[in-house]
Amino acid sequence: MDSFFSEQAGEWFCEAVPLASIAERFGTPTYVYSQAAILGQFRRLQGALEGVAALICYSVKANSNLRILRLLRDAGAGFDIVSAGELARLERIGADPRQVVFSGVGKTAAEIDAALAAGILMFNVESAEELGLIEARACHLDRLAGISLRINPDVEAATHPYIATGRAIHKFGVPPEEALALYRRAAASPLLRLRGLACHIGSQILQVDPFARALDEMLELAGRLRAEGLELDYLDLGGGYGIRYRREEPFDFARLAAHLRRRLEGSRYRLIVEPGRALVGEAGVLLARVLYVKRNPAKRFIVVDAGMSDLLRPALYGSQHEVVPVRRRAGPAHRADVVGPICETADFLAQDRELPELAGGDLVAILTAGAYGYSLASNYNSRPRPAEVLVDGRTARPIRRRETVEDLLATEGDQIGGDAPR
Ligand SMILES: Cc1ncc(COP(=O)(O)O)c(C=O)c1O
Repeated sequence: MDSFFSEQAGEWFCEAVPLASIAERFGTPTYVYSQAAILGQFRRLQGALEGVAALICYSVKANSNLRILRLLRDAGAGFDIVSAGELARLERIGADPRQVVFSGVGKTAAEIDAALAAGILMFNVESAEELGLIEARACHLDRLAGISLRINPDVEAATHPYIATGRAIHKFGVPPEEALALYRRAAASPLLRLRGLACHIGSQILQVDPFARALDEMLELAGRLRAEGLELDYLDLGGGYGIRYRREEPFDFARLAAHLRRRLEGSRYRLIVEPGRALVGEAGVLLARVLYVKRNPAKRFIVVDAGMSDLLRPALYGSQHEVVPVRRRAGPAHRADVVGPICETADFLAQDRELPELAGGDLVAILTAGAYGYSLASNYNSRPRPAEVLVDGRTARPIRRRETVEDLLATEGDQIGGDAPR
């Protein structure tokens, strides 16, 4: 991705806006996104897929801010959702439900009902029991349910074990052998419409080959179904394209697209891809302020006002984000950990890094934080979640106000009645 975050004469910018001016206006911690970076990446993927009949369904979980969803909808994206909450976001922005796929191993009856009422393209079904429930709810609501089966292709992909999903040991999808029996069962139902096959083999995958193997596996299964007279329209390859956090080689969209073109040429299938991280990850940073520089006998710590409640990825996956001073100051570099204010040893944003001189009051930017940043944020330690700002050229606009402690307290207390069961 072209970098829309850059250092010019010792000062960091998002597009044409100095990050320091955003911190001044909106405070810290704040997520800052570049509109041009998000749109540029969407168009790059679109361009690579030219000549393939494909629908790009942005995976809402990566970053579900309404303004960003609207931006991608206007650019022509469909969406991949995993909850009724994400569906409500799409309804709020007026997204076309016929371009929405619903993934996830634990869809509830209420969520299935909401998606049937909305008229989504298809449920990516993950078990025999879920298929039974979708059929029952379709009957109850007198609706036809579009379905595809998420198969677990048992493909190994080099990534963190917590974000690998395509092996037989994982909870996701059904084995290809079971899929055949389920399709036969679904084909016999007047309430279910077989639309496709789906898979999602993991996240932050940097090599093309695992995707190529997963597609080949789906084509093989689709061929067997076809031989039985069961025709499908869609092959959903999921998301998972890796991005550059530090020194990774960027994912080669052109190589993936060349394989897809070769294998899908002349076929009837429409391809769906579900990228999340690849569209928004490099397009965002988390802006934080240094509170203290603390020196223990063994180590130096830069204590900042953002922690694992704002950006969980380092604590959860040991992920590596670059940390840069927003304004460079004179002085020697030091080895240090960048840590948050939370009472957990895992509350770090970077460990054992060579960092330029920093002092209390300085600003830092944690780079490549646009995906699974805000969307994984929590209120741990009763911390209000950060603000979000979208930059377009010379303009920075707030797209989510900072939470307040009052927001947190509003859902609690002696006067709150129990929720009726749903
Ligand atoms: C079913 C499904 N599709 C798409 C994605 C998006 O993955 P990524 O952000 O790595 O592209 C995920 C992520 O967990 C997923 O579970």
